[in-house]
Amino acid sequence: MQPPSETAGTTPMRTTPTDTITWVDGTIELVDQTVLPQQEVVLRITAVSDLVAAIRRLSVRGAPALGVAGAYGVALALATVAPGELDDAIEAIRTARPTAVNLARMTDRVAARVPDGPAAVLAEAHAVREEEITASIDMGTRGADLVEALLGGRDVRAMTICNTGGLAAVRRGTALAVVQTLHERGRLADCLALETRPLLQGARLTAWELGQMGAPHHLVVDSAAPFLLSRGAADVVLAGADRIAANGDTANKVGTFSLALAAQHAGVPLVVVAPESTIDHATPDGAAIPIEDRGPAEVGGFGSSRTAPPDTPALNPAFDVTPAAMIHAIVTDKRVVMTSRGQTP
Ligand code: MRU
Repeated sequence: MQPPSETAGTTPMRTTPTDTITWVDGTIELVDQTVLPQQEVVLRITAVSDLVAAIRRLSVRGAPALGVAGAYGVALALATVAPGELDDAIEAIRTARPTAVNLARMTDRVAARVPDGPAAVLAEAHAVREEEITASIDMGTRGADLVEALLGGRDVRAMTICNTGGLAAVRRGTALAVVQTLHERGRLADCLALETRPLLQGARLTAWELGQMGAPHHLVVDSAAPFLLSRGAADVVLAGADRIAANGDTANKVGTFSLALAAQHAGVPLVVVAPESTIDHATPDGAAIPIEDRGPAEVGGFGSSRTAPPDTPALNPAFDVTPAAMIHAIVTDKRVVMTSRGQTP
């Protein structure tokens, strides 16, 4: 691990506790997720345009963390933008990425307090952050209880995709909160983390977080996951969600649907773990979920190296949709929805 770097617009990262996103002296501090694990850097965001850029380049990412970023973004906009430009600034934040419903939902929730003044806006944004912290703890407990019951007391070998840990929320996260809770209970035998092409959230962020928590884990390439499941290498697949439609269809990092197909083939339950704030009753089913296309540049290379011939056309959906029928259960901070028994959220 290299020491924290200090560059223009950034400050060195505090050590413990590591909170992904914090309001500090009228600014937003974000752990920069584009440079982990090589560097531990906190970005200090003082302008709405910088927040929008940070969201688009995935310096802050993961559905719950995006919700908190949207919430604090409204407070930042109110403090820094001329009144006539406030609506446009808020719209730029809420639409910076389209798939995770938390971003637009929490931006709208805090924007509704603008008529009540800056103190009310900031209090609402702090409430969003606090609720996500509590939700992560509750998802971890509820999810670990479910997994332990599924396995009848055996130690757990989990498989997971993308990054759903504290970096994707504020602390602990969603699916990785379940892994962390199982580890704290002494019940985690292994966690297989998919590297998650093309931006490698699994290799860069999940492997880092699992190492930080001292949890047993192995990193695997995405294409090895179906085979490993077929050979019985995992007892449960744990995934997060960016948006859960009213019928339970779930958008999550691209590759989740492939995992669901493989899990179904292997008879391994897929459990989705997400806060209530990720359930979108206004979206009837998966077909209606907007899927972000991040363009060809991220596909034509690996890390900072170019691999494909220049100008190779590529498709780059950042998310896919897993039908509710392929999900064993959806665990939220408030309940367990047994999708495998036809329940809907
Ligand atoms: O593109 P990302 O890194 O923002 O995608 C994140 C995911 O797909 C996560 O699985 C999801 O947001 C749930 S995070 C707790």
